[in-house]
Formats: sequence, structure tokens, C-alpha cells
Amino acid sequence: MRVLIVGSGGREHALAKAIAKSALHPVLFGIGVNAGMSGLAEMQDIKLSDHQAILSYAWDKEIDFAVIGPDQPLVDGLVDLLETGGIRCFGPNKRASRVEGSKAWAKAFMQRHHIPTPAYRVFSDVNEAMEYGAICPLPIVIKADGLALGKGVVIAEDRSTLFSTLTGMMVDHIHGKSGETIVMEQFVTGPEVSLLVLCDGEHALPLLSAMDHKRAWDGDQGPNTGGMGVVAPNPYYTQEVADFCMQNIVLPTIRGLKEEGSSFVGCLFFGLMITPDAPTVIEYNCRFGDPEAEAVLALLDDDLLDLLLSAREGTLDTRHVRFHPGYAVSVTVASRGYPVCSEIGKQITIGKMADNVEVLYAAVAQTVNGELISTGGRVLHVVGRGSGIQEAREAAYEAVKQTHFTGMHYRTDIGFRALKREESDGSSGAVVS
Ligand code: GLY
Repeated sequence: MRVLIVGSGGREHALAKAIAKSALHPVLFGIGVNAGMSGLAEMQDIKLSDHQAILSYAWDKEIDFAVIGPDQPLVDGLVDLLETGGIRCFGPNKRASRVEGSKAWAKAFMQRHHIPTPAYRVFSDVNEAMEYGAICPLPIVIKADGLALGKGVVIAEDRSTLFSTLTGMMVDHIHGKSGETIVMEQFVTGPEVSLLVLCDGEHALPLLSAMDHKRAWDGDQGPNTGGMGVVAPNPYYTQEVADFCMQNIVLPTIRGLKEEGSSFVGCLFFGLMITPDAPTVIEYNCRFGDPEAEAVLALLDDDLLDLLLSAREGTLDTRHVRFHPGYAVSVTVASRGYPVCSEIGKQITIGKMADNVEVLYAAVAQTVNGELISTGGRVLHVVGRGSGIQEAREAAYEAVKQTHFTGMHYRTDIGFRALKREESDGSSGAVVS
């Protein structure tokens, strides 16, 4: 089977590694530049926005199945084009990708289907948004409607931040068209859970839960990032929480999308918050989380390619998914300046790694002399596995010490909160399969 992976970040490296182990003996191809993936797949550097060129490449290489990693090509309809061209895909079509492509659409969808989500209002007129901004309760969450490279959400704690955010998004167009419409959403608190669910349009197969660490600095300080580290499974996602989420969130979402002619095939990411009242949906994403996928797939004890094909063929109801027991902790190693402006072009060295460690390349190219060079903000995801969170943390941080590039930055407290929860509980309550 000839499989194309679209995208070339840490998530796609993790997907490539897991897919390469399949009993279906895939021959792998990839779109983009990633020195880690190039050991597993024939890579072709095509712009992700050039859908026609990706289709031509897929035809050229006689691709049987394409797995789409990033949000933008999904939201822009790459799956629609590839499927029309006869290439089967894992990933939602343009219509179903609205769950992530339009926050306003996703909120209205949840309201229509009685799926718990914080109260909200949508504005396309800046004066109306400002008027409401002058009287709304604080803090309030402001979200750009469309994709914004992970930078489209601001928690405004005071009016001055609120007004400058509205001006930035709606007047200065800092996120282009994505910020022409905005959502203002009730601020809620509680532990966050990332839940990745394989979907075949009708059935749902949840993977392990995960806990992301979005802020740049230790202690959850500093600017928001794409993700500085992950623990999987998430000890806050207990059996009781999981049962509630399946009945009230996951299944109604899949059903609602199908009823509305937007059947979702792919990985649906539920960004959940376990508020003191009940779990609620903060966001949907239409793809594997990054870096959630890196930690979750490190624990997978199953044939990923076979599962993704089942999702495409509509047979997930016949499937189970197995995970290794224990935990994975993934630490993101980033460039100096990330997430504001990242230094790139630094030479990377990676020492010998233990068996319970994986190093996934997020922004790494190889020169003709074989040197590894950083090419972006998040450079490496170093994943340690262990029977407990502490053991997985130690494995990951020991491995981070074996990596080096000038200006490298990482958080030293990934997994701390999860560890506290585990300790306060006497044992982890996490759902492990
Ligand atoms: N880690 C959050 C995301 O993938 O958007």
C-alpha cells in the first residue's frame, strides 16, 4: 500500500513512525521538509496551499491512501479534491472541517445540538463588538473566527486588552480574514483535557486523553504557544468524566455532524474543560493535536494505518484500539524567541537515546553534509515513556539533556500538574484504554 502523509511537523513525523510499523507494509511518501520523516518516507517539498500539485504528485506516485495532518489544507478542501481525484483520504472534507475552520459555526452547531459549551456571542461589526465589550463580564475570551496559526485566542482580563484585541483582529486585520468575525465567549476554569477521537462519519473510537501545556514558560506563564509539552493519559479524564463526555459531547457531535450532512471522517479533537459544574467543549479541531499526537501515538499498541483505513471505510464500529500501559510525557524543545519570532538555522546535535524515548522532529532539515538544522519555532518533541508520570518525565528530561542547539528553550515542569493530581488521588484515575 502506498501512503502519502501531507504535512511535515512533529505530528506528521509521529504519524509516519506509527504508520511505518503497519503490518500492511506501507511505502511512505510525504509532503514537506522533515529530516526525521525522510528516513521513513520519500519527501517532496510542495506548498500545502498548492492542492493541484499535491494531487498530481499523488497520481504520479500511485498513492492508495492519503493522511492529512495540518488544519489549513483540510479547511481549504484538500480532501475534497483528492477524493474527487480517486485518492482515498483520512481527514474530513471542507464542510466537516468547519468545526475548526469557523469558531462561530462550531459554537452555533453545539448550541443546535445541546452540546455543553460556554455562553458566547458572535460579532462581525466592530462597533457592536466594542459596545458589548464595554459592558461584558471580565475576563472574557475573544476568538478569531477562522484559523490563525494558533494565535487567534485571547483571554482579556481588562477592558484595555479587550479593546486592543478587537481593534487588532477586526480593524487592523492581524489575522487577515480570519478575524473579520469574532466570538466573545464566557471565561470558564478547570483542568483542560485534549481528547483525540477517530471518526468514520458515524462511529467514534476515542484514543488516550492528553494534557497539553500551552504557555511558553514554567508555571503556565508567558504567551500562548502551539504546545510546549503533553502528558498522556490525562489523570483528570477519569472513567466518570469519560462516560459523561461520550454521552453528552462526543456521540452528539458525531451524530449532529452526520444529520447536518457534514459527516466527519478523520481525527476529531475535543478541547475540553472540566469545570466545577461539568465538562464543557472549549474547541473542536479537525485533526490530530500537535503535540498531543506525539505523546498519544508513543503509547499506541495497535496498527495505526489499519485503524485510519477503517475510519475511511466506515468500519470503526468493528474496531478496538489498544495502548501500552503507563504514561508518555512529551517535552517541546523550541528556538530562542518562540512563539514571537524564532531564531532558525541553528545546528542541532542529538545524542544516543534510551529505548523508552522517541525524538520527533518538528522543524528540522538536513544539509547536504548531513547536519541537522532548525527551521522553525518548535524544533523537537522529546517523548519519554514510563510506568508512571514521574518515570516518563525523567525519561523525557534525561533525553532532552542529550539534545543541543544554540538558544534552545523548553519548559522544565511538563507533567507537574498531572503528577500532583495523581498524588492527591493516591493513584491515577486516568482512563487508559
Ligand atoms: N495542541 C493543540 C493543538 O493541536 O491545536
